[in-house]
Amino acid sequence: MRSPEPFRMTRITEVIEENSLVKTLRFRDDVPVEPGQFYMVWVPGIDEMPMSASYVGDEKGITVHRIGKGTEALHRMKVGDMIGIRGPYGRPYSLEGKRVLMVAGGTAVASLAPLAEQARENGIEVVFALGAKNREKLVFQERLKDIAELHMATDDGSVGYHGFVTNLAKTLMDKEDFDTVYACGPEIMLYNFFKTTREMGLKVQFSLERYMKCGIGLCGSCAIGPYLVCRDGPVFTEKEIEKMPEFGRYMRDAAGRKMWLK
Ligand SMILES: Cc1cc2nc3c(=O)[nH]c(=O)nc-3n(C[C@H](O)[C@H](O)[C@H](O)COP(=O)(O)OP(=O)(O)OC[C@H]3O[C@@H](n4cnc5c(N)ncnc54)[C@H](O)[C@@H]3O)c2cc1C
Ligand code: FES
Repeated sequence: MRSPEPFRMTRITEVIEENSLVKTLRFRDDVPVEPGQFYMVWVPGIDEMPMSASYVGDEKGITVHRIGKGTEALHRMKVGDMIGIRGPYGRPYSLEGKRVLMVAGGTAVASLAPLAEQARENGIEVVFALGAKNREKLVFQERLKDIAELHMATDDGSVGYHGFVTNLAKTLMDKEDFDTVYACGPEIMLYNFFKTTREMGLKVQFSLERYMKCGIGLCGSCAIGPYLVCRDGPVFTEKEIEKMPEFGRYMRDAAGRKMWLK
């Protein structure tokens, strides 16, 4: 049986504090990576965890939301410290059309920001709906405002549209046609938004998350419907999402137990 490749140790070149809960770590790595793909990131002595590539040029990056011991350890990292990476893994987004909509909730903008940059380089117009709980939690608005038509939404109305980013996206979709709709965010957000895009008959690419151990299709921990998120995703189309009975209902934890989403 195939076993995971060894980690490549890489030195952190820059640490950017995006807000009180989110940091971006930049590092050099020669292996090409596409928007939507992820690394298995290892903090020596602590844990390994999947992280989307938030920068895909010569200097790569991950953007980390602190929620537990692994992400806390990444937040303690300083310039010059070493992390281990495997990958990149997974199926990336595919750019389709001339004018596209991207919808990101919270730190999930990490995987869509490099896609917006790639779209811009390819002459594709991007309308970007960026949402967060409040003004302080918005990530990458400066990075996105020059490359996309940027619309912002906050749950508390502190900036932009007052309400969920998916409601903002619906107002945009009611006004004009988009060739493809890309989205990444909490699964409940994606589940409700998926219903809207299906009713409107739109083509979508959504990035999903599941608990990952191996990251390369060996352990089965990230199974959803007939797919493995690490190998067949994390980016899925509408036809694939329709074959996932678990989508929007439950995930499995490290021990394989169901965690109900609603
Ligand atoms: C494809 C993919 C891309 C991701 N990209 C990002 C990203 O760009 N930025 C970011 O901040 N987070 C991202 N995540 C989520 C990130 O992997 C988890 O938040 C992280 O592993 C939590 O680890 P922890 O030790 O801090 O928290 P813990 O306290 O161990 O766990 C907190 C919660 O995080 C989730 N989680 C924990 N371990 C894993 C794991 N191995 N795989 C998946 N989920 C896990 C579980 O839901 C768990 O309940 C991504 C997850 C996936 C599957
Ligand atoms: S994480 Fe092991 S099969 Fe996907």
